[in-house]
Amino acid sequence: MTLPDSALPPTPGHAVRRRGVGLFWRTFLLLSAWIAISTLAWVQTLREADQGPHAVHTARHLVSLVRVVRAALEHLPADRVTPFFQGLQGGEHLRVVPHHADDRHQPLADNALAQRIAEAVSRLLGAPTPLATSVNGAQGLWILFDTHAGSYWLRADPALLHPLVDPVRLAWLWTAVGFSLVGAVWLARWVNLPVARLSFATSRIREGDFAASTLDESVQAPELRDVHVGFNRMAQQLARIDQDRAVMLAGISHDLRTPLGHLRLEIELAVPDPQSRANMVRDIAQLDAIVDKFLDYARPGQPHAQPVALREVLATCMDPLRNNKDVGMVLDMTEDLHVLGDPVELARIIANLLENAARYGKSVDTGIARIALHAHGEGDDVVLCVRDHGIGIADAQIDQITTPFFRGEAARTATTGAGLGLAIVERLVLRMAGTLQLRNAEEGGLLVRIVLPSATR
Ligand SMILES: Nc1ncnc2c1ncn2[C@@H]1O[C@H](COP(=O)(O)OP(=O)(O)O)[C@@H](O)[C@H]1O
Ligand SMILES: [Mg+2]
Repeated sequence: MTLPDSALPPTPGHAVRRRGVGLFWRTFLLLSAWIAISTLAWVQTLREADQGPHAVHTARHLVSLVRVVRAALEHLPADRVTPFFQGLQGGEHLRVVPHHADDRHQPLADNALAQRIAEAVSRLLGAPTPLATSVNGAQGLWILFDTHAGSYWLRADPALLHPLVDPVRLAWLWTAVGFSLVGAVWLARWVNLPVARLSFATSRIREGDFAASTLDESVQAPELRDVHVGFNRMAQQLARIDQDRAVMLAGISHDLRTPLGHLRLEIELAVPDPQSRANMVRDIAQLDAIVDKFLDYARPGQPHAQPVALREVLATCMDPLRNNKDVGMVLDMTEDLHVLGDPVELARIIANLLENAARYGKSVDTGIARIALHAHGEGDDVVLCVRDHGIGIADAQIDQITTPFFRGEAARTATTGAGLGLAIVERLVLRMAGTLQLRNAEEGGLLVRIVLPSATR
């Protein structure tokens, strides 16, 4: 028999278990993006400066030189020209040579900066002005200009042609980017370390390990200190509550069970009427079962997750009901499934569901509880469905059904049960990192769907 579990909504457990990009990587990627954007902005700013202000500035400098030299050549007496140029030779690049028609010269490189400088020089001098990187084999930044006395080559410092975005500056820039990225790693780690510690401590508390989760209360940052102090106090309180609960459970178990045992013995010996004796013994057995449930519900949770063969646990739980003529069970499970969880707790889950199905899932017409169990693998999970053919649960009550001590319509007449069975099931399923869904099957009866992590994930 196949259960219509495909009609159920998707399991929320998947979303909880699947992990996204961690906080460290988010911070690091964000910082890296900022560094990359600001570096690119810097390079672009320098490029713009190269094309605009830097080119114009260089052109003005060259034009000033040309004007000074031209003025000297045109206005100084011939015998003063040579001493004037010797005085100018402070910069070893500066040189003025007459232009000859057969001079060999190498035009400027065809890059944007050089072209901008050439354009600006021509514009400022008011006439097309050739620029060259070598004249007759002599390297430099050469400018050809006219005077009344003829044309001359003026040599200026070739470094003026260097762009602001040069390989050396770029190398420094990339070194700075490298350091910034290392800084980003450090910053991301530093910012996220407290969160990682808190997350670890929380996970230890979740596992019931209260002592291992003490956070440093002497940290410098006051905000963190407050969080750590608050967290530690909370862990201490939880530890105390857990201790109290253990003591209380031991007390209940011992103080209630022992007199119950004595009472039962005394009834067996002292009550002569077999009918009343049987009734009394049954009532005591029921009290005992309720105490059992109570202890199951209140038991502290430290499940030992291990691969559990689902088929074996199902068989163990179904065995006690096999001889019950009011119960018919069908198991539909084609694969050998292994759940990651605690075998005892898994058995407790299944036993509670079978107990409910046998008790409340009787067909109205036959009085027999037909229980259908179905299990299959689904990705990284194992899905187990238990369905009966009884009256199901009123829609208005379905959300409260796992509340402790809640007993529904079907249980009104039954004297057994404490309303803890489904509360226990929900608690144990969550503890095993699984999910529980309850709904009425379309053709009647309750359908319980449990998704547990598979051991083969
Ligand atoms: N298979 C079922 N069919 C109909 N009602 C159910 C079924 N299982 C549980 N219930 C309802 O849910 C209530 C709570 O169940 P549970 O927590 O196991 O408590 P208990 O079995 O002790 O009454 C039950 O009292 C019953 O009304
Ligand atoms: Mg029950």
